[in-house]
Amino acid sequence: MKLNKLGQNDYALITGASAGIGRAFAEKLASLGLNIILVARREKILNDLRISLEKQYGIHVDVIMADLTQKDGIIAVKQKIMETNSLALLINAAGFGTLGKFNHLDEKKMEALHTIHTTTPLILTHAALQILLKREQGAIINISSMEIFRPPKIGIVYSASKQYISTLTLGIRRQLRNMGASNIQMHVVYPGYTRTEFHHVGDYIGKRPFKKPKFLWTTPDQVVSATLKAVEKNKGKIIPGWINKMIRFIFGIPGVWWILKIFG
Ligand SMILES: NC(=O)c1ccc[n+]([C@@H]2O[C@H](COP(=O)([O-])OP(=O)(O)OC[C@H]3O[C@@H](n4cnc5c(N)ncnc54)[C@H](OP(=O)(O)O)[C@@H]3O)[C@@H](O)[C@H]2O)c1
Repeated sequence: MKLNKLGQNDYALITGASAGIGRAFAEKLASLGLNIILVARREKILNDLRISLEKQYGIHVDVIMADLTQKDGIIAVKQKIMETNSLALLINAAGFGTLGKFNHLDEKKMEALHTIHTTTPLILTHAALQILLKREQGAIINISSMEIFRPPKIGIVYSASKQYISTLTLGIRRQLRNMGASNIQMHVVYPGYTRTEFHHVGDYIGKRPFKKPKFLWTTPDQVVSATLKAVEKNKGKIIPGWINKMIRFIFGIPGVWWILKIFG
């Protein structure tokens, strides 16, 4: 999809737009002249972002405050999608992580995590596809994670939910191609460690800072830039950054997990 060919009436709806990867998408797409619908829970942050994007780029920005772990939040966003006939892009970026072994996880938190990474993008993708099919163009970008490429240890509910969105997205992509509707693009992004609020909220609060070697980290802007380049080429599966691509390659080598286990 040629992003610079999108018209000044076109809209991108982004969940998780108040921080991190979702916010970086909003800022980049606004700079390309797209109108934006920002979705998240934090009202002040969303409104400040709306004012700043409208002023900077002369575009139209809508805000929806919604808790996407709750049915009414999901329905509010779905309705907005169905009213937006000039929707060109949907980006499902809202999400969070949990820490702890499965048997110790709080049931409510686990259900919320599962909902926001599976049911929410499922319903929103389904609604957006109806609009994109009518328009015969557009794209949906769902955010998965590099976590799915390795045997899950602690974050198994997280990892399973990210596997779900990957399978769903690639399955719809295949169906659309078989229907001859390849003008509607489905993409799934697998970010590795990305410097956002992710490792500073929820279960991470009050824990020791989440530490991994510097070279493993990317920025949200790098994730967005790699994704938009891949969207232009209609890649489908997007692994942002050479380090993540290399890790993905290593993870795919047969027997590598035994070797990594032996060397600790
Ligand atoms: N950062 C990483 O290392 C990493 C790696 C792989 C994949 N990912 C994935 O990338 C996506 C974006 O994460 P991020 O790193 O950008 O994290 P982030 O900086 O913490 O941003 C998360 C976004 O999701 C929104 N959100 C969280 N809970 C919500 C809820 N109940 N209802 C509505 N919105 C909610 C937050 O907004 P409010 O708090 O304002 O609601 C925020 O805008 C997630 O799906 C995450 O799983 C991240």
